[in-house]
Amino acid sequence: MITVSIIGSGNLAHHLIQTFEAHKNIVLQEVFARNKTNIIAKIDKAKITSDLNNLKEVDVYIIAISDDYIADVSSQFSFENKLVVHTSGGVSISVLSDKNRKGIFYPLQSFSKNKNISFENIPICIEAENETDAKLLTALAQLISKSVYQVSSLQRKALHVAAVFANNFVNYLYQQAYEICQDNEISFEILKPLIQETAQKVIHLTPEEAQTGPAKRGNTKLIKSHEDFLSNTKQLIIYKTLTQSILEHAKKL
Ligand SMILES: NC(=O)c1ccc[n+]([C@@H]2O[C@H](COP(=O)([O-])OP(=O)(O)OC[C@H]3O[C@@H](n4cnc5c(N)ncnc54)[C@H](OP(=O)(O)O)[C@@H]3O)[C@@H](O)[C@H]2O)c1
Repeated sequence: MITVSIIGSGNLAHHLIQTFEAHKNIVLQEVFARNKTNIIAKIDKAKITSDLNNLKEVDVYIIAISDDYIADVSSQFSFENKLVVHTSGGVSISVLSDKNRKGIFYPLQSFSKNKNISFENIPICIEAENETDAKLLTALAQLISKSVYQVSSLQRKALHVAAVFANNFVNYLYQQAYEICQDNEISFEILKPLIQETAQKVIHLTPEEAQTGPAKRGNTKLIKSHEDFLSNTKQLIIYKTLTQSILEHAKKL
């Protein structure tokens, strides 16, 4: 049995609360929320506290609050030499206060309160300062996920940057495709099978093997006609930058 407390009442905290509460081998002791009404997950109300100074003793304290306040909140705990982790992909382990043992419990997924999600297939990245804590965090993560990794702070940073390319940038490109469709009175629905196939393909092929299109083929005539078509300067810059990059990459093969 592993005992945990969660600090936070946002998107990730919401999903951690629901998952820990439902698990027979995890005891969710307490949840700290500045504003108790922000907790909409199913939980015994007696477990919710707004008193950061009187948290009960548990195996792991999980800070799941906005990145900028992790350091400040971790320094406010009244206890010492306990295992305190944060959940951020982009924040160093070193921001956590020195008075407790430090760790990371970073689930690599996008969470929103209003979208249900199972932790089963979510990769959880673990980091700790010693082997015992790494084992405890790994055990906790493995209770809820089949996909648990020990990664260093530098690797976590790299993963976070890679995730920005794989998720945020790709989604922004969908936005451009959406606008191009709208401007030309075409339903975005028509592109959805292509979007699905693009994501599915890289599960089985490397991104390099999966790449197709005019830049990969070096079809400069077609590229020029696409550039002439684009009247939106922002879209033209993105098109030219990515096309140039794909052309250069293809030449190196
Ligand atoms: N959401 C994701 O997709 C995701 C994925 C992986 C990792 N993470 C990490 O999880 C952490 C939380 O992210 P989130 O998306 O759940 O955030 P969020 O939904 O924006 O919620 C932020 C939470 O931080 C609390 N908070 C802010 N400042 C505080 C302070 N000074 N003292 C105490 N509590 C404070 C807020 O409390 P109030 O409600 O009172 O304002 C709220 O509970 C971040 O480190 C983030 O990098 C998030």
